[in-house]
Amino acid sequence: MRLLFVTSEVAPLVKTGGLADVSAALPAALRDTGVDVHVLLPGYAQVLKALPPLQAVAGFADLPGFPEARLLAGALPNGVPLWVVDCPELYLRGGGPYQDEHGVDWIDNALRFGLLSKIAAVLGSADSPLDWKPDVVHCNDWQSALAPAYLHFANDAAPCVVTVHNLAFQGTFPPQAAASMGLPAECFQPEGVEFYGNLSFLKAGLYYADHITTVSPSYAEEIQTAALGFGLQGLLAHRRNVLTGILNGIDTEEWNPATDPDIAQTYDAGRLQAKSANKRELQKRMGLHPDPRVPLFGLVSRFTHQKGLDIVLEIAPQLIALPAQLVLLGSGDAEMQRTALELSHRYSGQVSAYVGFDEGLSHLIEAGADIFLMPSRFEPCGLNQMYSQRYGTPPVVHATGGLIDSVVDCNAASLKRGEASGFVFDSMDAIGLLTAAQRAVAAFHDEKVWRALQLNGMGRDFGWDKSATAYRDIYARLMLR
Ligand code: ADP
Ligand code: GLC
Repeated sequence: MRLLFVTSEVAPLVKTGGLADVSAALPAALRDTGVDVHVLLPGYAQVLKALPPLQAVAGFADLPGFPEARLLAGALPNGVPLWVVDCPELYLRGGGPYQDEHGVDWIDNALRFGLLSKIAAVLGSADSPLDWKPDVVHCNDWQSALAPAYLHFANDAAPCVVTVHNLAFQGTFPPQAAASMGLPAECFQPEGVEFYGNLSFLKAGLYYADHITTVSPSYAEEIQTAALGFGLQGLLAHRRNVLTGILNGIDTEEWNPATDPDIAQTYDAGRLQAKSANKRELQKRMGLHPDPRVPLFGLVSRFTHQKGLDIVLEIAPQLIALPAQLVLLGSGDAEMQRTALELSHRYSGQVSAYVGFDEGLSHLIEAGADIFLMPSRFEPCGLNQMYSQRYGTPPVVHATGGLIDSVVDCNAASLKRGEASGFVFDSMDAIGLLTAAQRAVAAFHDEKVWRALQLNGMGRDFGWDKSATAYRDIYARLMLR
């Protein structure tokens, strides 16, 4: 089975969120089941810098509407074969993959990700310059979701899957973009790539894909409703027979408290007392009072409305009055960043925020915090709540999407079944979150209950095996058609 896995970010080369983790771990898990998988990624400056010099294996001189590009062959650090789309004019610049250094979207994003989609489609069709032809093309999020539209009009096209990692980001561009990137005029309509008068990459993918997946079973249901469908609920409900929710796994080697090089002291379920050295180190590093008994809440997140960060900032004073400490790591919304830093000045020693992206610190927070906070308004899957359970740091989560599917609320029944692994709350507001946090603090002070919660979480299987098999089954079904 040959699979082309198309993505706009992959860890550790380029990462803004969970998509990068998934794009590294899922292809590796598929490879381990015998799938011949190649990852296709844009050649951003940071990607080319991180890899040894790469050989060109194909050139694309006359793709209608696009500058000249080449395909370079390499490999991800995990050994999965990688193809990099080399197009200096579109990708070789500072800033991030989607935005410049001021957080403003690149003005030519339609072209930048149109090219990624177009090349994916060429490689998946009779026009491919390569001998290696995929049996299935797997696209991820809006950045590669135009590929199914191109494939629809191509010769001898491979079937394709689109995975929705976050429906909130759709890749919407002025209508002229469609024709200028070589899409036939006939597809610019509601039964096609058009969405409220614009070109929508994600809509195109959802319309033309042979199969749609999203990253948790609960989110697969939620996106068919007006509340979380971002205008696409009708199309998704219409296509529900080919819509599957598959919970993400995590990279259990990278996120393993027994071997993690980024934490102060490694530990596992049999040596949980060693976890406390990480709390000590985290308190020291973040300037918190070195008190081992006060519960320490941790959060690692993009600072956005989606993640409920506004609510966390709102309840911070009540949270530390429980008493508790709070450590925040993240970046995003400028106002939220400011408030987080203000809180850490005002409540110095009890609240501490680091604004920025710091992979090492995120590991130390997972290990050193007692309780993890993840009150997302919506969450397609979420990875941190799984990392935190694996690190013996029970999470407090809002009952939404992948959080429902990966955390078992602590109550008498779930404790008795040996399944309780965190705290799940329904009411997405300050009182809802604070009440759940209070429940967590009460449990924290009950040694027996806390140990049970930690061990239940640490014992859960969050690996990729089951999910990789579920993707494989979908590919296999598409190949039969
Ligand atoms: P999303 O992709 O919506 O941001 P996920 O929970 O799926 O949410 O994945 C987020 C990933 O990004 C996790 O691996 C998390 O640890 C990481 N992350 C987010 N913000 C930061 C940060 N400021 N520093 C380090 N890692 C971060
Ligand atoms: C998105 C979602 C997140 C998910 C990640 C990987 O960024 O917001 O919930 O875990 O993609 O699928």
